[in-house]
Amino acid sequence: MIDKIKNLLDEVQSWQASKLEEVEALRIEFLSKKGKITQLFDEFKQVSPELKREVGKQLNQLKDLAQNRINELRAQNEQIAEAANKDDVSKPGVSLDLGGRHPLSIVKNDIINIFARLGFTVADGPEVEDDWHVFTALNFPPEHPARDMQDTFFINNNPDIVLRTHTSSVQVRVMEKYRPPIRSIFPGRVFRNEAISARAHCIFHQVEGLYVAENVSFADLKQTLIYFAKEMFGPDTQIRLRPSYFPFTEPSAEMDVSCSLCGGKGCGVCKGTGWLEILGCGMVDPAVLEANKIDSKKYSGFAFGMGVERIAMLRYQVKDIRLFFENDVRFLSQFERAL
Ligand code: PHE
Repeated sequence: MIDKIKNLLDEVQSWQASKLEEVEALRIEFLSKKGKITQLFDEFKQVSPELKREVGKQLNQLKDLAQNRINELRAQNEQIAEAANKDDVSKPGVSLDLGGRHPLSIVKNDIINIFARLGFTVADGPEVEDDWHVFTALNFPPEHPARDMQDTFFINNNPDIVLRTHTSSVQVRVMEKYRPPIRSIFPGRVFRNEAISARAHCIFHQVEGLYVAENVSFADLKQTLIYFAKEMFGPDTQIRLRPSYFPFTEPSAEMDVSCSLCGGKGCGVCKGTGWLEILGCGMVDPAVLEANKIDSKKYSGFAFGMGVERIAMLRYQVKDIRLFFENDVRFLSQFERAL
């Protein structure tokens, strides 16, 4: 028994390992349940009582030494492995997940760029507005349904302070501040007290356009909109103007574009009509010019307003408007990637 312990002591002292696996193999061979050293503890039971004290001491020393040696070798090899990992330039890199632009931003920027090519500048106004800028200066009569609680969010129940229901309020801000010629677009967020569904949201985005100068005609409006439609939806796009009504334009129209999916033949997206409604527009009502102290005998103008979500839904075939506001990366990562 003493000899066995001696031999094993020599052996333990000469242990070397150049891999973590080798360290583990040594541990199993000597210190596991059936390991060589562990087995000596079984044999120890047969040692005569006089010798037990001495042999037991040596056996414990052997076990401690072996355990320490294993720990030492393991630490050494872990360091080596770590260093090797760090310097391994052939390992695949860690890819950084880069964000991309939100689809609404992509569409908004496209709209801005198209009108910038026609000389339209960009202007901005507040989202919390007063009644004058959202309704009164735009020729809404006092009892107009758009002023109703059903449509408009009021701040602190004050009938004079509202969340703007359309970006037409920026028309008024701009006409207050600048004299004609005015040629500007106003992208921004608008708010309506509507039930949220796949097709409607209480928050959405519009881009408004305003052109006021001498001799601006309906033909100018139409030509501007044709240019926009072809740039936005492709050179084969046709437009159609249908008579409509807005308090602040006269005459007013709604514009449809030919369905870019079926080319006007009729499909599910255009509900078989071949046309998609895109925006409202018209000649600025002289009463609106006068409310903003612009001489309506000298100047005329046109205005238009479109929904950004609507255009994004058509372009990317998004069936549910709520997706734009949930910010689920699985949705967002399908659009433009790195900036
Ligand atoms: N403000 C209108 C709307 O929100 C759109 C519009 C803008 C119509 C400008 C005519 C002129 O529906």
